[in-house]
Amino acid sequence: MISRKEAAAFALALLVSQTVAASADPMRPASNSLPVPAGVTREQVLRGDRIFHGEEANGKCSNCHGWDAKGTGNGNDLTVGSLIWGDSLAMIKATIMHNMAVVPGQDGDLEPADVDAVAAYVWALVHQDRFR
Ligand code: HEC
Repeated sequence: MISRKEAAAFALALLVSQTVAASADPMRPASNSLPVPAGVTREQVLRGDRIFHGEEANGKCSNCHGWDAKGTGNGNDLTVGSLIWGDSLAMIKATIMHNMAVVPGQDGDLEPADVDAVAAYVWALVHQDRFR
């Protein structure tokens, strides 16, 4: 026989483990295993991930490019291995800055360091399959 106390502890452990499992996000690219472009730190890629998903700098990228970055009717797939406007880090940054200039505020409230970070994250998404 297990005691009431043990049963309660077991129920609590089960609840905690289920909550942890539910918070894992299968739709979101696993940014810890994404490649990191030269001259950039993993912390910048992780920050770019948070901006992309609206957790920093009021970033709105995932609204149009999708939570999984595979695109929606309003923004293209950024995971297919190449981009229309060029997929080097410099070209990705130039595209983002161009779009920010054409439609100000649409991407969020991005400071220059935020643009660097989110460009690095997009580079990581674009190049992920070349490193597997
Ligand atoms: C309102 C919708 C919208 C938002 C918000 C948005 N995008 Fe886009 N984005 C688009 C569309 C539509 C295109 C395709 C048009 C084009 O070629 O520029 C695009 C193009 C791009 C491209 C170029 C893709 C290619 O194939 O060359 C990149 C990179 C990109 N977006 C990154 C971002 C990032 C990073 C953010 C957030 C900081 C963002 N976008 C926010 C709609 C959006």
